[in-house]
Amino acid sequence: MKLLVIIPTYNEADNIQNLIQAVFTVIPPNGEILVVDDNSPDGTAEIVEKTAAEYSCRLHILKRPEKQGGASAFLQGFAWGIERGCDAMLAMDADFSHDPRYIPMLLEKANDHDVVLGSRLVKGGGIENRTFARNLISHGASLYCKFLLAAPIKDWTGGYNLWSKKALSKIGLKSIVTRGYSFQIEMKYKAFKAGCKITEVPIIFPDRKYGVSKMPASYLVKALFDVWRIKCMRMNNGIKQFIKFGITGGLGTVTNLVLFFLCADKAGLPEIPVSIGCFFIAGTQNYIINHNWSFANNTGTAKVSVKRWALFLVSSLAGLSVNITVMKCMIMNFYLPYKFIAQACGIAAGMVINFLFSKFVVFRGISCLKEK
Ligand code: GDD
Ligand code: MN
Repeated sequence: MKLLVIIPTYNEADNIQNLIQAVFTVIPPNGEILVVDDNSPDGTAEIVEKTAAEYSCRLHILKRPEKQGGASAFLQGFAWGIERGCDAMLAMDADFSHDPRYIPMLLEKANDHDVVLGSRLVKGGGIENRTFARNLISHGASLYCKFLLAAPIKDWTGGYNLWSKKALSKIGLKSIVTRGYSFQIEMKYKAFKAGCKITEVPIIFPDRKYGVSKMPASYLVKALFDVWRIKCMRMNNGIKQFIKFGITGGLGTVTNLVLFFLCADKAGLPEIPVSIGCFFIAGTQNYIINHNWSFANNTGTAKVSVKRWALFLVSSLAGLSVNITVMKCMIMNFYLPYKFIAQACGIAAGMVINFLFSKFVVFRGISCLKEK
């Protein structure tokens, strides 16, 4: 496993050299460090560059021209790591609030998890020297997220986390829109929703000894609203997918009918084989359009595959059976002026089943490097 430790810095001259040394003593020999510095006025970058000489090719720095925030530094760091073929990326702060002594524990858990969170809020973890009020805030924030987002994560805002390449590609880095504390919440929620295996490892979080925090307090309030935004984003995404899926299904029906007309009416071929053929051709068309359009968020760079195509056709058949069942039941049990009303309800029910099967089975989080 190739590990990359990503450390964003802004004015961390008093911390960075010690931290780099401490990290190198605990990571595997092939592990590397990337510092993402935003042109710190205190000369953090120069210190890193000097230190780099001691660690041939294992210490890297990405110098950005101006202060762009920690979240964007992490995102750029992740992209850098993915491009260089790293398998796991450990995000940590430069100020020793994230003690490097926990790295071996985080790495150990990475063997059987996609995401390992350094957590202040599980048994054994904690926040050092924090006032009652600050403790209340972090526990309150945790409960707020847990309730709203309905995901079993405790430490939502912590930034000491190990992300596998697989998890990052499932999350889709370009889909991340929030910054500040919310950035961590969004990443964790999307990982959970993408079906990543997540675990929390207890860490004690001391306050920084040197330098000052760069996180404005207003970000805390912003985060409260961002959680709603994160939740709505997901709902909107589902609705958009459903609409696209419906349009795709409509196009498939047109294809089906045109082919049927040409083969059965014009060419005079027998209806049943023609109908089966039309099902396969229209189904294939639907599969390809859904893969590249309706569920492009889930499929990303993945190619269409025979296995998923077959699954999709099974899903269409399942939808068809639901359609027929609902239609027949309605006709038998209710008085309807026209039978086509029952068929319309059947089609709607079949489509919902087909959509859910497609969303959660056929196209479930294949890879998300490509966005929207
Ligand atoms: N490149 C870059 N650019 N780095 C930045 C910037 C920036 O604009 N702003 C902050 N950093 C770096 C800092 O140098 C530090 O290494 C790290 O990001 C965290 O910044 P702090 O200022 O120490 O943040 P904090 O202690 O208030 O917040 C930490 O704890 C929170 C949970 O309590 C962070 O880890 C948050 O992500 C976390 O939510
Ligand atoms: Mn800090």
